[in-house]
Amino acid sequence: MTEKQTIKSTIQADTWNRKNVVSVSQFTESAIDALFELTDRLKAMGRFQLRQWNPLSGYVLSNLFFEASTRSRISFASAFQYLGGSVDNTVGVVFSSISKGESLSDTIRVVQGYVDVIVLRHFAVGSARIAADNSTTPIINAGDGIGEHPTQALLDLYTIYNETKRLSDLTIAVVGDLQHGRTVHSLVHLMRLYTNIHIVAIAPNDLQLPADSVHTLQVSGIRVTQTDDFKVGIATADVIYMTRLQRERFQSESDYEQFEQLYILNRALTESVCKPDVVIMHPLPRTSEINPDVDALKQAAYFRQTDNGLYVRMALFLLVLLSPSELRNHLNTV
Ligand code: NCD
Repeated sequence: MTEKQTIKSTIQADTWNRKNVVSVSQFTESAIDALFELTDRLKAMGRFQLRQWNPLSGYVLSNLFFEASTRSRISFASAFQYLGGSVDNTVGVVFSSISKGESLSDTIRVVQGYVDVIVLRHFAVGSARIAADNSTTPIINAGDGIGEHPTQALLDLYTIYNETKRLSDLTIAVVGDLQHGRTVHSLVHLMRLYTNIHIVAIAPNDLQLPADSVHTLQVSGIRVTQTDDFKVGIATADVIYMTRLQRERFQSESDYEQFEQLYILNRALTESVCKPDVVIMHPLPRTSEINPDVDALKQAAYFRQTDNGLYVRMALFLLVLLSPSELRNHLNTV
């Protein structure tokens, strides 16, 4: 793709402009193509050039994080700051008016009057939708309980594309706490846009993908295999997407402990069981499910995945906040 074509298709991507990003079900293939083309371009510019560019100078982001986070919050904030914007962070219920009994909708109605975009992480499924319904400022869902994490799915998809050079004809093994893992929920549903996808869901019965999710995937033409056999499940995978047990979502510590240390990927297993060019991903944070001896393998893509997150989120902010002509003008200056 030439530089000119890249700019043109990005400009046509007005599907993102001023939109909320609540669920992967709102994305189209062409909108994702535009996002990824812009991401490629930002990655090629690199941080030094990006720092001089300032297309979001004067814009303000409110990062509202009411649940634990390290990389999502920092990567959203860094992405915004590299583009010249400024960020206000609210971290934890304790330091917000929610601790005084304020409703989420009231918080959002107030904050939207102060800022240009709100990134929200909240413990309740559906919270991002509620926020979007109470805001004229775009809301970006950074995780709503066990619901969704759509921007993680975008950076996961971008990483799959970068590593495998394709988004169809893929066997993706998702492993771990598939019941509570919102990143898995978003990723598998996003794969409905692509053809010849086989999802191998590896989990103990009690932590399997929710039945309605499996049904939705199958109706969309995705082949789904559910198993609790780790070795068999990962053997045919092009991509292995490991996840941690979502400890904070279990009713009790003993419920959690029965599943702890169930599936552990290590170097020996990767080399003896997996395809040689398998791509190993993880949304992070990891606990014990990937042994550190995997980190040095070329198949280990999880730190490349987090690096990609910065650029995917930059591209997202640009497409959401700037009109197509503003974006074109800014791109023409670099
Ligand atoms: C994930 C999340 O918060 O859902 N982390 C992330 O955003 N990269 C995964 C997890 O917490 O297990």
